[in-house]
Amino acid sequence: MSGFETFYITTPIYYPSNKLHIGNAYTTVAADALARFKRSTGHKVWFLTGTDEHGQKIQRQAAESGKKTEEFVDEIVSWIKELWRELDISYDDFIRTTEPRHTSSVARIFTRYIEQGDIYKGKYEGWYCTPCEAYWQERQLHENSCPDCGRQVELIAEDAYFFRMSRYAPRLMEYIESHPEFIQPVSRKNEMVNNFLKPGLEDLCVSRTSFDWGIPVPGDPGHVIYVWLDALSNYITALGYGEKDGLFDSFWPADVHLIGKDILRFHTIYWPIFLLALGLPLPRMVFGHGWLLLQDGKMSKSKGNVVDPRVLVERYGSDAVRYFLLREIPFGQDGVFGLELLVKRINTDLANDLGNLVSRTVTMVERYFGGTLPQPSNADYPVDQDLKETALETPGLMKALMDELKIGDALAQLWKLVHRSNKYIDENAPWDLAKDPSRRERLATVIYNLVESIRFISVLLIPFLPRTPGRIWEQIDLRDQPHLQNRDSLEIWGQVQPGSVVRRKDDLFPRLNLNEELTRDEKQAAAWVEKRNEDQSEQITLEQFQQVDIRVARIVDASPVVGTDKLLRVKLDLGAGEVRQVIAGIARHCRSEDLPGRLVLFVANLKPVKIRGHMSQGMLLAAEDDQGRLVLTTVAGDISEGSKVC
Ligand code: MSP
Repeated sequence: MSGFETFYITTPIYYPSNKLHIGNAYTTVAADALARFKRSTGHKVWFLTGTDEHGQKIQRQAAESGKKTEEFVDEIVSWIKELWRELDISYDDFIRTTEPRHTSSVARIFTRYIEQGDIYKGKYEGWYCTPCEAYWQERQLHENSCPDCGRQVELIAEDAYFFRMSRYAPRLMEYIESHPEFIQPVSRKNEMVNNFLKPGLEDLCVSRTSFDWGIPVPGDPGHVIYVWLDALSNYITALGYGEKDGLFDSFWPADVHLIGKDILRFHTIYWPIFLLALGLPLPRMVFGHGWLLLQDGKMSKSKGNVVDPRVLVERYGSDAVRYFLLREIPFGQDGVFGLELLVKRINTDLANDLGNLVSRTVTMVERYFGGTLPQPSNADYPVDQDLKETALETPGLMKALMDELKIGDALAQLWKLVHRSNKYIDENAPWDLAKDPSRRERLATVIYNLVESIRFISVLLIPFLPRTPGRIWEQIDLRDQPHLQNRDSLEIWGQVQPGSVVRRKDDLFPRLNLNEELTRDEKQAAAWVEKRNEDQSEQITLEQFQQVDIRVARIVDASPVVGTDKLLRVKLDLGAGEVRQVIAGIARHCRSEDLPGRLVLFVANLKPVKIRGHMSQGMLLAAEDDQGRLVLTTVAGDISEGSKVC
């Protein structure tokens, strides 16, 4: 691969626990624009994305869906690949952490750490946030919840393997200080150094025993490798690290790991330390972009259609969705997504500015020159000079911005040329020139310059809106002229051939009616919510509900059921001297010693059953969220045992 400058860019590998939303698509679209841009500047690019398939969260979610874990993730991975196809994501490789090429490599890496003394076996006691798959010490919790996502944490106590993070902390600190471009945006660097490195790194627990959906620890199969150690390694296992003739030597270290700001800690502390322990060079840059928020708050699946990227692509086309994501959000900062904003961007930038420039120009070639591109004259007017200069300097200015990952600014720079070209039409008023036969030559020059400027714009659009350039080329006869479709052809003005056949086709971006779009979305969202409700529960009558005898009960005793880590044996007082025993699957969600004395809700008329040799005479009611967290239900005030819930 010598002779080429290489560029290795990665996205996070996504959890296939649910379909992705527009926020996830944002990272990948940005990475795609960067990859395509680097290809256009002659780099040998490797663009990696994929899925992070192991861990407790995925296993729980699969179990809830009633599917086998493999089947569950396969379905979502297919959906994700389809989404990337629809969004024209030009990845070179898609890694799944369940693939043997990854699992075997991670097992080898883990063994090496053990052999080097980086990993040792001990006992873990502490808190775990399953949605983030992150360990926390008590002092790090915020109001007893995960400091990253605010959700409830679980107490875990298990034999485990630990990574000696402190061994490599000084070298990491030195690297961060001597490589100011490593953590981007720079504002995030201090956060990492001051909050995590300076207070001192604790050894990191890198295995779990309470579930089995993961890569087994070599030689100790009761343990699975911690999902973040497994996942982060994808960036090298996908290149064939440790294997002969892989891509590793050509592409490592990565030029950019593009990620969301929420996972910066894993990428700028854990990952470099894992790499230092392997004696590998560190990535050149980890870029933590901001969050995409909804106009009316945080993004969540329950908001329905508006955040489903495939619905948006189907309705507005992938180039429009890509344009919005790349242009609207200043890269590195948080941004807002909303249908209204999207429609406005489409109407203003794509339909008005770009679409009209193309349609007006092409229509004029048809109207004034019978659809044949005329020969320009040699006479240059100042406005011509200005247009040419703007066009010729745009590729370089955009490149400088893209080198700094300022994707939105690069697009804004390109739109300056679009605006300049539209202004050129107004300045020259071709419709007036056309009325005066003595000005035919001038008219020809104006029209020619506009078509050439559109060619510049179309070539520069390729990395961002990959479909639109082809639609423009169809209209200005460039389809079969690849030498006029690359950046090199933008070094000299005046390449488009007089005599080309120019034909008006459909508008590039038809104008949308904002009200219609909002109404359509409301209807779709309502239909979506209705369908979800139907899917989730069938309706029952009051009589059916009243058949369930729910009572208030006081827990008098709770103890673990021997031989399982899921079940507790709970004794409850139902008032009037009645005591019942239930076997409840709550051991992972609450400590038995915390339960006695609590008032809970209890189903009293369930048929008794035997579980693990113990009688279970009813059911404790608990609430469970979509992350598998479980909390016992209780009553809001004091009320006597045995009271009926109605
Ligand atoms: N599996 C881990 C990453 C492992 S990388 C070795 C993970 N997956 S994720 O599916 O939960 O998130 C993937 C990415 O989506 C993260 O970079 C996260 O920041 C990003 N986003 C999730 N919601 C987002 C928005 N609302 N807006 C922008 N990015 C968002 O974390």
